[in-house]
Amino acid sequence: MEISVASDLQEASGDLLVLPVFKDRAWGPGAEAVAEELGGWLEPYLDGLDFTGKSGQTAAVPGAGGFARVMFVGLGEEADIDELRKAAGVVGRAAMRYEQVATTLSQVEIDGAAEAVTYGFVLGQYKFGKYLSDPKLSKTTSLLLVGDIEASEIDHGRTVAEAVALARDLVNEPAGGKKPEVLADLAVEMAAEHGIDITVYDRDEIAAEGFGGLYAVALGATNPPRMVVMKYRPEGAEKSLALVGKGIVFDSGGLSIKPAAGMETMKTDMSGAATVFGAVQAIATLGLKVNVTAITPLTENMTGGAAQRPGDVFTARNGKTVEVLNTDAEGRLVLADGLALAAEDKPDLMIDIATLTGACVVALGPKIAGLFSSDDDAAAQVEAAARRAGEKVWRMPVEQDYRTMLDSPIADLKNIGTRYGGAITAALFLQEFTDDHPWVHLDIAGPARLDKPDGYISKGGTGFAVSTLVALAEDMVG
Ligand code: BES
Ligand code: ZN
Ligand code: ZN
Repeated sequence: MEISVASDLQEASGDLLVLPVFKDRAWGPGAEAVAEELGGWLEPYLDGLDFTGKSGQTAAVPGAGGFARVMFVGLGEEADIDELRKAAGVVGRAAMRYEQVATTLSQVEIDGAAEAVTYGFVLGQYKFGKYLSDPKLSKTTSLLLVGDIEASEIDHGRTVAEAVALARDLVNEPAGGKKPEVLADLAVEMAAEHGIDITVYDRDEIAAEGFGGLYAVALGATNPPRMVVMKYRPEGAEKSLALVGKGIVFDSGGLSIKPAAGMETMKTDMSGAATVFGAVQAIATLGLKVNVTAITPLTENMTGGAAQRPGDVFTARNGKTVEVLNTDAEGRLVLADGLALAAEDKPDLMIDIATLTGACVVALGPKIAGLFSSDDDAAAQVEAAARRAGEKVWRMPVEQDYRTMLDSPIADLKNIGTRYGGAITAALFLQEFTDDHPWVHLDIAGPARLDKPDGYISKGGTGFAVSTLVALAEDMVG
C-alpha cells in the first residue's frame, strides 16, 4: 500500500473518502462541505442508522466530489490520540474492499495525528491469511492523507505497524510452523538485514552455557530448543536496554498437562519473543541510538519420554537451583536464564515480556498487561512509554513478603507458590535472576491475544507491547 499526502481535498479522487465526525454529529475536518454537497437527505439518513459520531461508529453513503463512496467515522467526545488510532483501525478494516482510500482523519488537530492514522489504518487492515485458499486480503493499494504532514510521521507509523504485524504473524502461526529452529532462522535473517550481531545456541550449547531452565523445559520436546541473542549496537548510543521474551512455541503444560479445552491457544505462548522480534525490527529500521540486547529462549513445553518430572531440580544460568513442582510454570524457567544472561551486561534497564500467568488474566482481564517492578523509576518509564503507545498496563506489587511462598526444602527456590497471588509469585521468581539491576516484568497473558477485533487490534495475536517497547527505546535515546 502506498501512502501519500495532499494538502487539501480539492483535486483528490478515489474509491472511498473517510471523514471524521465528533459526538452529536459535529462534523470533523472536511466533513461539512461534503455533507452539504450530498444534500438534505443525509441527516435523516444518518438518523435512521443511529449514527451520532459515537466512538468507533461508521456509516457508508454514496459518493461526493471525486469519490465513489464516502464513509463517516465517529470519534466520540474527547478525540485524543488513542481515539484517532482506534478510528483509523476501524476504518482500515471497513475499507478493505476499496482500492484508493483518502481521509481527513489526519487533519484532526492532535499532535502526531498522521502517525496515529497511519498506524491504525495499516493495522486495521491486518489479516492472517497464510493458510486460506481465498484469504480475501485487503484490496487497498493507496491511502491519501489530507493535511500538512511530514513524510517522517508516516514512515514512523508504518514502521511500527509493520513490526506489530510481524509479531502478529508469528503468534498466529500454528506451533508446527514455528519450531524453535524456524524462529531462530528468521532472527538470523532479520539480524543480517539490519547489521545486528546474533548468536544462536543449540541444545548442546544451551547445556554448555548453563541455560538450565531452558534445557529442562526442552527435555520433553522432540523439536530442539534454541537460545537466540541479538545485539543491536548503533554508533552514538549511550544507554542500553535488554529485552527478554518468553518463547514457548507451544505450551502443553508438560507432564503437569493442561486440559484439552483451549489448549490450541497455547501457540500464543511465544508472544513475548514475537514482541521482542517486532520491537528489534522497528528499533533497527528507525535507527534508534540505543544499545539493545534481545534475548529469546525458544522451546516447546511437551510431554515426551525425557520430559522433566514434577519434583526435578535444575541449575539456572546464575547458579541458583530450582525445584520444579509444576511443569506448566515453565515460562519463568526459560526467562530465568534469559534474565540472568541479560544481567551479566549490567544494562541500564531490562524488561521481560511474557504470557506468564493465568492469574494475571484473572486480575486484569484481556486488555491490560500486568507491570511488575521494584524500581519506581523503571516502572514509571515503562508506564509512560505504554501510555504514549496507547497500550494499557497496570502496575502490580512485587510483594517481598510473599517470597517465602517460593521456599523449597531441597533447592534455592521452587517454581510455584500457593493458589493465590500467582502473578506476583511469578514476578518474585523472576526477580531472583535479575541480579538487582533495574528490571520491569510485563505479564501479557491477557492482551497477547484477543477473541474479536477491537479498533486497530485484530482477532488472534495482537502484537501487544511492540509499540510500547519502541516508544521506550525512543525515550532512552539521548
Ligand atoms: N502460558 C501459561 C500462562 C497463560 C495462561 C498464558 C492463560 C495465556 C493465557 C503459563 O505457562 C502457565 O501455564 N502458567 C500457570 C502457572 C501455574 C502452574 C503456577 C498458570 O497460570 O496456570
Ligand atoms: Zn505453562
Ligand atoms: Zn506458558
